[in-house]
Amino acid sequence: MNYFEQHQQEYLEGLKTFLRIPSISTLSEHKPDIRRAAEFVRGELERAGLQNSELIEGDGNPLVYAEWLGAPGKPTLLLYGHYDVQPPDPLDEWVSPPFEPEVRNNNIYARGSADDKGQTYILVKAVEGLLKQHGKLPINVKFLVEGEEEVGGEHIEAYVASKPERIKADAAVICDTEMFGPELPTICVGLRGMVYGELHVQGANHDLHSGVYGGAAPNPLMAMAEILCALKGPDGRIRIPGFYDRVQPPSEKERQAWARLPFDEQEYKEKEVGASDLVGEPDVPLFERLWARPTLEVHGIRGGFIGEGAKTVIPARAVAKISTRLVADQNPAEATEQIRAAVKAACPKGVTAEFKPIHSAPPSLVNPNNRYIEAAAEAMKQVFGKETVYIRSGGSIPIVGLFDAHLGIPSVMMGFGLPDDNLHAPNEKLHLPNFYRGIEAVAKYLEILGEPV
Ligand code: BES
Ligand code: MN
Ligand code: MN
Repeated sequence: MNYFEQHQQEYLEGLKTFLRIPSISTLSEHKPDIRRAAEFVRGELERAGLQNSELIEGDGNPLVYAEWLGAPGKPTLLLYGHYDVQPPDPLDEWVSPPFEPEVRNNNIYARGSADDKGQTYILVKAVEGLLKQHGKLPINVKFLVEGEEEVGGEHIEAYVASKPERIKADAAVICDTEMFGPELPTICVGLRGMVYGELHVQGANHDLHSGVYGGAAPNPLMAMAEILCALKGPDGRIRIPGFYDRVQPPSEKERQAWARLPFDEQEYKEKEVGASDLVGEPDVPLFERLWARPTLEVHGIRGGFIGEGAKTVIPARAVAKISTRLVADQNPAEATEQIRAAVKAACPKGVTAEFKPIHSAPPSLVNPNNRYIEAAAEAMKQVFGKETVYIRSGGSIPIVGLFDAHLGIPSVMMGFGLPDDNLHAPNEKLHLPNFYRGIEAVAKYLEILGEPV
């Protein structure tokens, strides 16, 4: 048994402690838990043997920083993760409570297990293991762990944009993505960006009897439906003028690599998605729709009467939460303006409609031809015993595009989640063998990068 295998039980217990903290960034009543989670990460980094650990305060949730810079002349990695999580609802669909981690079938179930506490912990334990075994690291590392990734990552963005000398590095390592399949080591080289906001529709200045006024009064819920249908057609194509102007098609090489990925569309449809049919632009292959095309989704609509029974009312207002996912080379500022204009143009008479942005993130696309990504692919291959595949992902991690834009460094996205980990959903889990192999793969990665070139 190697050092890492000997310490698995300890890693699991540590992770459980982390997972018990309900650090939900979007709900303000959890502010104290956010701070507890930040303190937990800082304490772990300090006990792991890192130096100058601290909470960086600013507008928003604290960033956790720590470093080990004892390998002059060797590369420096910026190791990124997030300690905040999504809300756990609907609660009654969890088999075990979201903040009481439970191991079943070699998986640990809890909110944040895969996204992203488990994966952040992988980075911490890899570095700790090397420091405890050798008293030093083969390269230099700087940890930067944020607490508002799930709500747009504004604090870290301001911090990285100010380009502090202390986060200067040769590459960023992000452990917050998924493997393509259960035993398939994977590097993610592209993420979608996003614009998230609320669509407010106002009709009459008060609620109205739907019989007395139906036929004359504007209905903001109907107007909402009309506006939404004007933004995206039944063919999955976004109808916002100019939206596709900057969209870069994937290279032929990438398309071919995606077509070679081991994949069963039937199983994806029935088991992973659990729907009777897949949707989207009919002439665009699935991975391209997910990874290289923009989309628009509605997350919730509020308005009118939703209680038990029937109430005949024409409500005065309606609100929808919507988001678009962006791909290279779209940018959030321009997309926001395009959405605003399209909403105005689609607004029927008798109501007003306004798009109010909440947060946004740029898309990111990484060139994989550099030693930092190649070494990561090699490390994962050695630990998982299979060739590493390169994919993109449809999700967003706001800071990734900004590491490139502000620091000019590539992001190495080594992810250890699985497609059925239920991110953002009930029964989120992390496959424990991936947790343990992830720790070994990251340690191996640091060792490879420390070898003389
Ligand atoms: N870790 C995810 C993003 C992700 C998931 C990347 C799966 C690759 C594969 C991240 O925590 C996330 O959920 N991001 C949000 C970003 C948003 C709230 C700004 C997202 O994608 O919805
Ligand atoms: Mn995440
Ligand atoms: Mn997430």
